[in-house]
Amino acid sequence: MEDQTIQITQSHSKKQKPNSEQLEFGRIFTDHMFIMDYTVEKGWYDPRIVPYQPITLDPAAMIFHYGQTVFEGLKAYKTKENKVLLFRPEMNMARLNLSNERLCIPRIDEDFVLKALIKLIEMEKDWIPTAEGTSLYIRPFIISTEPYLGVAASTSYKLMIILSPVGSYYKEGIHPVKIFVEREYVRAVAGGTGKAKTAGNYASSLKAQEVSEKQGYSQVLWLDGIEKRYIEEVGSMNIFFKINGEVVTPELNGSILAGVTRDSVISLLKYWGIPVSERKISIDEIYDSYKNGSLEEIFGTGTAAVISPVGELNWEGEKMDINNGETGPLSQKLYNTLTNLQNGTEPDPFDWTLEV
Ligand code: COI
Repeated sequence: MEDQTIQITQSHSKKQKPNSEQLEFGRIFTDHMFIMDYTVEKGWYDPRIVPYQPITLDPAAMIFHYGQTVFEGLKAYKTKENKVLLFRPEMNMARLNLSNERLCIPRIDEDFVLKALIKLIEMEKDWIPTAEGTSLYIRPFIISTEPYLGVAASTSYKLMIILSPVGSYYKEGIHPVKIFVEREYVRAVAGGTGKAKTAGNYASSLKAQEVSEKQGYSQVLWLDGIEKRYIEEVGSMNIFFKINGEVVTPELNGSILAGVTRDSVISLLKYWGIPVSERKISIDEIYDSYKNGSLEEIFGTGTAAVISPVGELNWEGEKMDINNGETGPLSQKLYNTLTNLQNGTEPDPFDWTLEV
């Protein structure tokens, strides 16, 4: 797509901004959003920033029937000097195209969509909250819009970017969450859509989540779809274990999402000289390490979840109490360093942040 001009329509009725001390995740949206359309004839066209508003779609639009859609999640942060920073946004743009490829959605021009995202953030920068643990969550997504009931790739799409000032994803904040190891349902299999960021992966996770919530757990830990033995991810975050001084996380096997925070944590650990490996990890190995006292910490990583310590893991009724239900020192150090890099409090040796 050649560089197109982004048309801007300003909103005349500005919404009241929320109290940044009381923010939940993903319930409030800013004054403007970005939209661009696609048809086979025109490619991606008509990029525009307009007042945040409902959209109208034909009831036969393919998104409603077969779920051909992809999304991303990243955040904008405000520094003490009032500068606006994004964290590795080019990785989200690249992953959007990987998801597009898997869902037969046309590629986007990553540089152009990032430019549009930056323009939108510039317009909405007063919405970036500054209280501890808050940020402006950015949700780019693409939906299929062709009115057609045949099972095929749509010939028309909409790409949108919406923004939401957010607090922590879990009500626990940085406090440890309780996780249920899922044995009945599975999230993804190799060759499926697990590594794409697409709605169906999340819709199919709801049942297990509902069952685990009734038992007092925040989320489920998914095992592989064949043997139900190897650890995959939590769904809204990747998972890491510290065992006997070494940090391990499941390798990217085609059914796990390649998280930006996951990648950043691996780089940080290497930078600090802490042993870290990406490999197959069975739930039996975790249980054994728990039993013999070598399991030191468990934490999840994600854009929404940041670093989320796990205080309890329930595997077939066995309640593994991790680090006495407290936030472990490594989880805390990773949380502090990552959030300090993201909000510009610490110098960024990796060149991960992009000033808007
Ligand atoms: C994210 O971390 O940005 C996610 O997409 C996870 C979730 C909120 C769906």
